[in-house]
Amino acid sequence: MFLFWALAPLSSLLVAAVAHENSTRRNSPPDVHPASAASSACAAILFALGSSVVQSSGPEYNATTQDTWNLFNALEQPTCIVYPRTGPDVQVAMTNIFRFGSSYAVQAGAHSAMVGYNSITDGLLISFANMTSTTYNPRMGTVTVQPGVRWGDAMAAIEHLGLSVLGGRASDVGTGLLLGGGISYIAPLYGWSADSIKEMDVVLVTGELVTATATNAYSDLFQALKGGANRFGIVTRYELFPVRTGTKEQKNWFGGSVIYPASSLVALLDASAQYIRENTDTKAGFIAIMNNIPSNVTNTVYMFYNGPSLPHSVFGDFLSIPNTSASLSPLSYFDISNLIPGNARGNGQQFGAASWVGDEATFRSGYSHFLNFTQAFAADLSTSDMIISPIPRSQWNATKTGANAIGDPGVAYAAINFNLVYNAGVTVQPPGVQAGFELLLEQASSSPGLPLYINECDASQNVFKTYPSFAALQKTYAKYDPSRFNVEHTTGPIGL
Ligand SMILES: Cc1cc2nc3c(=O)[nH]c(=O)nc-3n(C[C@H](O)[C@H](O)[C@H](O)COP(=O)(O)OP(=O)(O)OC[C@H]3O[C@@H](n4cnc5c(N)ncnc54)[C@H](O)[C@@H]3O)c2cc1C
Ligand SMILES: *[C@@H]1O[C@H](CO)[C@@H](O)[C@H](O)[C@H]1NC(C)=O
Ligand SMILES: *[C@@H]1O[C@H](CO)[C@@H](O)[C@H](O)[C@H]1NC(C)=O
Ligand SMILES: *[C@@H]1O[C@H](CO)[C@@H](O)[C@H](O)[C@H]1NC(C)=O
Ligand SMILES: *[C@@H]1O[C@H](CO)[C@@H](O)[C@H](O)[C@H]1NC(C)=O
Ligand SMILES: *[C@@H]1O[C@H](CO)[C@@H](O)[C@H](O)[C@H]1NC(C)=O
Ligand SMILES: *[C@@H]1O[C@H](CO)[C@@H](O)[C@H](O)[C@H]1NC(C)=O
Ligand SMILES: *[C@@H]1O[C@H](CO)[C@@H](O)[C@H](O)[C@H]1NC(C)=O
Repeated sequence: MFLFWALAPLSSLLVAAVAHENSTRRNSPPDVHPASAASSACAAILFALGSSVVQSSGPEYNATTQDTWNLFNALEQPTCIVYPRTGPDVQVAMTNIFRFGSSYAVQAGAHSAMVGYNSITDGLLISFANMTSTTYNPRMGTVTVQPGVRWGDAMAAIEHLGLSVLGGRASDVGTGLLLGGGISYIAPLYGWSADSIKEMDVVLVTGELVTATATNAYSDLFQALKGGANRFGIVTRYELFPVRTGTKEQKNWFGGSVIYPASSLVALLDASAQYIRENTDTKAGFIAIMNNIPSNVTNTVYMFYNGPSLPHSVFGDFLSIPNTSASLSPLSYFDISNLIPGNARGNGQQFGAASWVGDEATFRSGYSHFLNFTQAFAADLSTSDMIISPIPRSQWNATKTGANAIGDPGVAYAAINFNLVYNAGVTVQPPGVQAGFELLLEQASSSPGLPLYINECDASQNVFKTYPSFAALQKTYAKYDPSRFNVEHTTGPIGL
């Protein structure tokens, strides 16, 4: 360790000493070899923050690198991992990353399906593994979550108060979800998860730490972060408006999962299209997972209702389609949020997104392209799913803190996620699959005018361009990152 930083240029020691100064006056970072830029930045941060915060090897380093949900990201070997404890620690890291022109990645819950989004080689990884607290603020009625917490733990921390935060539907997923929008079972009633954010502390590319809210001087940044993914800064604190869902003893919901045989597929696609188009009952929660490989097709629909039963007026079609098995019962929202852990590891993963209006022909044809793709690449895939999430009209209305970065397209639609799971142990995407997947995404592409869901996209998809609010987002990006440092130094969505 001593040797490591002793070899760093003298300037890095100066940087450590001035890490908190106003850095906006600096010129664009020097253009140096990625590995040496990263080494210099690591050395400076190590000097400033010490070896418990900055690690280049060892059991903790290995655990972090190897624990990514997508196995394709688990082989990355960051030059060092910074484990910040505080916002100012992140400022020190970002100041030096910027000054040395190093590449970097940020990791929260490590669930990104996109290669390179949450780990890196020849660059720094900022891991929030040591910032995982959830705190209820009784005076404000808000919940502060640190970026490293997973939704299951955040919900467990406040469940006894009868409260929940808007996260996702899988308990192992982390807070990076908020920066893409965030879809929960209760989104129809309470909106996109990002729209429950009251304020965020954000470290800008220059190292400056600001608090962004819907109404302060950083309101443009605040809106951009709610869907702008990892492009606008590093969030070090989220203050969220919780929602009252009841304690786990109060089983005030009813529902669960119903599994259907392959022979029910067309009926399920049609019922799903109709549900997307017609359901306006905000007490209903829904996700359909059409599983495709091996030939043993199982399609699972999760249905929930905030009440004592599943109303036939909402779920009648799904309840009359022949099923293989059903597991429905009274549940708490806490139970519901833990039904899908989503914590399996060991496979390469890939997502691809489409947005479809609730139209039977669109659903049938999209599925048939998906089927063709999965059959063509069956040898490479362990399994694959087409996942249907409703984005009803009410989801846009519920925001407490203004518009998000996506922008309301004005119609109800479904966010479609094609999830590929590669064979266990395969550590890079097999050749040929990407071309086939991009063909699928073109064949099964979105209905006109609909935004893609960035948390479920393939890295090849230009999601920002599909946002109704794209022009505002571009303007905000140019304002907060004029040298385009993040676009050039951290892997993330294309197109800004
Ligand atoms: C099994 C599974 C289930 C899912 N279920 C849902 C669901 O129900 N609803 C839903 O909306 N989505 C869902 N998703 C998608 C999920 O929203 C995205 O994968 C999300 O990006 C995961 O966030 P994370 O913190 O776990 O992952 P990470 O990979 O750690 O982070 C995701 C991205 O955000 C960036 N990032 C994270 N934290 C910060 C920060 N503080 N500042 C700046 N950048 C940051 C990372 O650099 C990375 O690019 C699911 C994904 C999986 C794999
Ligand atoms: C930082 O620098 C900018 C640009 O010179 C200036 O506008 C701003 O007031 C400075 N902020 C602080 C805290 O010194
Ligand atoms: C970390 O993993 C590497 C292989 O990637 C291995 O050589 C090394 O021994 C591991 N270190 C520890 C402390 O587990
Ligand atoms: C978190 O901090 C504690 C206390 O400083 C330390 O023992 C632990 O190793 C850290 N964990 C991670 C993941 O950095
Ligand atoms: C097919 O699915 C059924 C029900 O999920 C399961 O019990 C069975 O093991 C599966 N068979 C194969 C070959 O995967
Ligand atoms: C599932 O199928 C069984 C057997 O046909 C039927 O009794 C039951 O009502 C069905 N359940 C649901 C939820 O559709
Ligand atoms: C959304 O809000 C508008 C204006 O308040 C209202 O007219 C409309 O009915 C709402 N739509 C839904 C689906 O909640
Ligand atoms: C099915 O997928 C293969 C592999 O991507 C592709 O070559 C072929 O054109 C597809 N067929 C149809 C009908 O889309």
